[in-house]
Amino acid sequence: MISIKSEKEIELMRHAGMLVSKMHKFIKPYIKAGITTKELDKLCEKFIIDNEGVPTCKGYEGFPTALCTSVNDEVVHGIPSNYKLKNGDIITIDVVIGYKGYQGDAAWTYAVGDISDEKKYLMEHTEKALYEGIKMVKPGNRIGDISHAVEEYAHEHNLSVVEELCGHGIGLEMHEAPDVPNFGRPGVGPRLKEGMVICIEPMLNYGLKNIYQLDDGWTIKTLDGQPSAHYEHTVLVTKDGYEILTPRLD
Ligand code: MF3
Ligand code: CO
Repeated sequence: MISIKSEKEIELMRHAGMLVSKMHKFIKPYIKAGITTKELDKLCEKFIIDNEGVPTCKGYEGFPTALCTSVNDEVVHGIPSNYKLKNGDIITIDVVIGYKGYQGDAAWTYAVGDISDEKKYLMEHTEKALYEGIKMVKPGNRIGDISHAVEEYAHEHNLSVVEELCGHGIGLEMHEAPDVPNFGRPGVGPRLKEGMVICIEPMLNYGLKNIYQLDDGWTIKTLDGQPSAHYEHTVLVTKDGYEILTPRLD
């Protein structure tokens, strides 16, 4: 069952989404060589709590921290650690914040100092793939239309789509129906209706699509060691299109 949010619920989701946006804006200036991913997590956790949000990832199925921090060949669900960022790294910060029970979820990949042209290309086109997916959001379109648009854009730009992980509905839970894959055929899957809220989140690899999970039970990495990027927005289906609930504030 895909939940349809009432106007009152949408107001709370807008608030949760705005907290996510503000946290990303807050942390951006700290993303520099020398800081550890654990320090980034602690700063964000304090920011979330100071702003009356809930760091939903912390404790979710045993995940230990507020943020997922995924560096270079880490695709998603990296655990903040004593790793010190260095010039040339890319890092994805993925966060879910709750407000009065409603969740907002967004990820961006950030550059640390000067990065290679390959990493720049990967970041630029992963973000654009996300917006290609978002453009398909309107009542009457289907989930497959989003999936196909993301995949087509990724492949046109020679990037691989991670297939094992996908976007999702969101509301009182961080993961609700439906799944939102980043590949597939147009015209299939559930139909979008006004009041649905979904997270679209392409994870694209510079090299091959294959991934594996570390023994920590969370961190997903590319098998070939090439970099991966991840961009995610929480998106409301409106009467005639969409509204991004986690707008970029930078
Ligand atoms: N944004 C991530 C997702 O949609 C958040 C999950 S991280 C977890 O999968 F640690 F909380 F699981
Ligand atoms: Co998500």
